[in-house]
Amino acid sequence: MKLFLDSANLSHIREIASWGVLDGVTTNPTLVAKEGRDFKETILEICGIVDGPVSAEVVSIEAPAMIREAHEYAAWHKNVYVKLPMTTEGLKALSKVSKEGIKTNVTLIFQPNQALLAAKAGASIVSPFIGRLDDISQVGMEIIRTVTTIYRTHGYKTEVLVASVRDPNHVVEAAVAGAHIATVPYDVFKKLPNHPLTDLGLKRFLDDWNSAKKK
Ligand code: E4P
Repeated sequence: MKLFLDSANLSHIREIASWGVLDGVTTNPTLVAKEGRDFKETILEICGIVDGPVSAEVVSIEAPAMIREAHEYAAWHKNVYVKLPMTTEGLKALSKVSKEGIKTNVTLIFQPNQALLAAKAGASIVSPFIGRLDDISQVGMEIIRTVTTIYRTHGYKTEVLVASVRDPNHVVEAAVAGAHIATVPYDVFKKLPNHPLTDLGLKRFLDDWNSAKKK
C-alpha cells in the first residue's frame, strides 16, 4: 500500500520524505491556506521533494471553470493529480479531463455510489473521507471495504485512497481492507514507526553491549 502525506507544510514533507517511504502528497484548500504561501509555488516545491502523485484541488464549482483549473494545474508538473469534488459539476469536469489524460483525485467521497460514478468517469484516484464519517457515528472504514470490493469485482483501475485519517489504526485497517493508498497527516505519520517495547528493547541491547565491552 502506498503512503501519502496529507499536508502542504514543506518542512513536514521534507522530514517524512527523508524516511524513504513517502509515495505522494495530498493537499486541499484548507491545508494550503494554513501555510499562507502561493499555491503554485507550494505545489511545485512539493513536486521537487517527492517523486510521486501530488494532489492540487480546484476551487471552482462549475464544470467549465473546473476544467480550466485542471488544465492549468496539470501543466505545472507531470506528477500533479487534479483534485475534483464529488458533485455533478465535478463529474462533468472529470469525464472531460480524464479523457484528455489528466490524472485526477476525486475528493469528498462519503458513500459507495459516489466512488462508482467517479470510477466510471475515469478517476485515477477516489478519496473516501474516513474520519469525517467516524465523527458522525458511521463506521468510516466500511466504505473502503465496499468500494475496494466494487472495483475488484468490476475491474475498475481507479485507486482507493483512504483520506481523513485520524490515527495509526486507520492506516492498518486501510491496508487490511485492500486500499491502494492512505494519506496520513503529519502527527499520525510520526507515530507509525514507534512502539515503547522497541525503545526499551534497543536500550537493553545497547546497555548490555556497553557493559560487556567494559569487562
Ligand atoms: C485529503 O485528501 C483530504 O482532503 C483530507 O484527508 C481531509 O482530512 P480531514 O477530514 O482531517 O480534514
